[in-house]
Amino acid sequence: MKPIQMVDLQSQYIRYKSDMDAAVIGSMTEAKFIQGPEVRSFESNLAEFLGVKHVISCANGTDALQLAFMALGLKAGDEVIIPSFAYAALPEVLLLLGIKPVYVEVNSITFLMDYTALESLITPNTKAIAPVHLFGCAAPMKQILQIARKHNLFVVEDGAQSLGAQYCSDEIEGFASCLADIGTTSFFPSKNLGCYGDGGAVFTNNDEWATTLRMLANHGQIKKYHHQIIGLNSRLDTLQAAILNVKLPHLKEFNLKRLNRAQRYNEAFENLSQLITPVLTDDSSHVFHQYTLKLNGVVREDFKQYLESKGIPTMVYYPIPLHKQNAYANGQSLPISEGLAEKVISLPICPELDNEQQDYIIEHVNTFFKA
Ligand SMILES: Cc1ncc(COP(=O)(O)O)c(C=O)c1O
Repeated sequence: MKPIQMVDLQSQYIRYKSDMDAAVIGSMTEAKFIQGPEVRSFESNLAEFLGVKHVISCANGTDALQLAFMALGLKAGDEVIIPSFAYAALPEVLLLLGIKPVYVEVNSITFLMDYTALESLITPNTKAIAPVHLFGCAAPMKQILQIARKHNLFVVEDGAQSLGAQYCSDEIEGFASCLADIGTTSFFPSKNLGCYGDGGAVFTNNDEWATTLRMLANHGQIKKYHHQIIGLNSRLDTLQAAILNVKLPHLKEFNLKRLNRAQRYNEAFENLSQLITPVLTDDSSHVFHQYTLKLNGVVREDFKQYLESKGIPTMVYYPIPLHKQNAYANGQSLPISEGLAEKVISLPICPELDNEQQDYIIEHVNTFFKA
């Protein structure tokens, strides 16, 4: 059996080695390392895949969020409502821009933004709501957009973990991150569509924001050395775009394999009362960026250490909710997010996890609970 990893990028590379090597060597030979033709072709390939008008690539998923708030013209003193049980990128960029993050609870079953808690957090300074499509499942966008429209707020979707997830309600449908004003994603290597370094992208159907986003990501210039606005140096490099162009046609298959692995885990753990398995929601497909369990009456560290002793890595996404992080704390109290942070644990999931490896993981999870 191959050693088990949370994400097996080596096996994936070996599977696509000839295409990958050709793409990388091709772009090195071409030597247009910044904004080379692969960058534009990747943007248009991804736009076509997602059915969104504009894809603006950038240096990483964190920058993508910063660019989104900058393009929308948010300013110091504005407030943006974000989930507390999520990754750190959102509060980080908001605080860097002088914008106040206001944290909202998540649903304890889906881990997604609890839209029922949104309205009580809206103040005259609130300018946007930023849901996170966490672990691979789209947030309840229909309800979030209804509230945003009622209060005249922007919606920025953080889709770093959900590229390829599809949302469908009676009011809106489409790919996660392409449902609201501006959406973002990350191509960090372990993401569902990962490059071989850092990368990210911003999505919008709005022409004006697209032009601004493109300028912002390239030093605020529309033409070389003509700086219209203050921007960033945040560009996806040509080599990463070449790699992403090889992987994009396989994204659907990668995501289906992840779903299959998750369903296999869910079936295997069905009768273990100590594990609460992830649910599939009615309005979104799930691309299982992470397979995250909630532990019920189990000491997480014991479970983690036992699995590690058997060569099975696990991760805790996330051990501290954002409103409790030293860097972003604001005194709010959010018991559901705080409770989840104590109970969650993620098992290895990736398209390359084979039956033998997964059966081994399942066997040892069962053994732990029998003991
Ligand atoms: C939900 C979420 N948002 C944003 C990011 C930031 O992406 P990057 O690491 O590419 O900056 C991540 C990365 O882990 C993420 O998981």
